[in-house]
Amino acid sequence: MAGMTDPTSPYSPSPETALSTADRLDQPPLRLAVIAASVRKERLSRVLADWAAGKAADIADVDLVDLAECELPDDEHLEPGGGPRSAIADHIDRADGYVIVTPEYNHSYPACLKRAIDWHYGEWMFKAATVLSYGVQGGLLAAEHLRGVFAELHVVTTRRVVGLRAPWNDIGDDGFTPPPGTGEALDEALRELTWWATTLHVARRDRPFQR
Ligand SMILES: Cc1cc2nc3c(=O)[nH]c(=O)nc-3n(C[C@H](O)[C@H](O)[C@H](O)COP(=O)(O)O)c2cc1C
Repeated sequence: MAGMTDPTSPYSPSPETALSTADRLDQPPLRLAVIAASVRKERLSRVLADWAAGKAADIADVDLVDLAECELPDDEHLEPGGGPRSAIADHIDRADGYVIVTPEYNHSYPACLKRAIDWHYGEWMFKAATVLSYGVQGGLLAAEHLRGVFAELHVVTTRRVVGLRAPWNDIGDDGFTPPPGTGEALDEALRELTWWATTLHVARRDRPFQR
């Protein structure tokens, strides 16, 4: 994928590493779920998720999960470890990794995303996630709050996240026009995500964690 290699970074797995691992182990194509994590009528998450999904589709099979389009059961039925199977459980379950497209609301991420997380359990486990956050200053507090929550579910978050500053200035009739460098930043985060998602796919299959 163009623009993804950063040979100067000692922390970046090379694309060759991920590819050769996948080839050697004869694994199915990577599957990512891109989650649009706000549900307001005038929300931006869907247009940004559409953009992210287009980029992710260059490297994986992609499911777009729009939280505005899926109704979760009432919280009175919630139990430790999830609850009755939801309409999006299968999408979360079959993904190897997630791209969470989330705004910052009051220095965290929206309640609808927390509900989507809490309503699932095993479906998330031992997977990888990266975050495309947005807000006045890039929404990075939402991204950082997600790390702690996902850690409880054995979801590894990538070192790199992408924070979009005031993306409402870059959205028009043609959708989102990323400012210079933004596409490349998402490519880098997706490359980390691919490495983790591939590695964890193999680990879940060959060496499942004994709880
Ligand atoms: C309830 C609420 C709280 C917000 N809090 C923050 C905030 O803490 N930091 C910030 O940068 N933007 C904040 N904003 C502005 C959002 O970044 C902006 O409205 C964004 O478009 C929201 O995402 P959405 O359109 O997908 O819902 C807030 C917006 C709402 C609706």
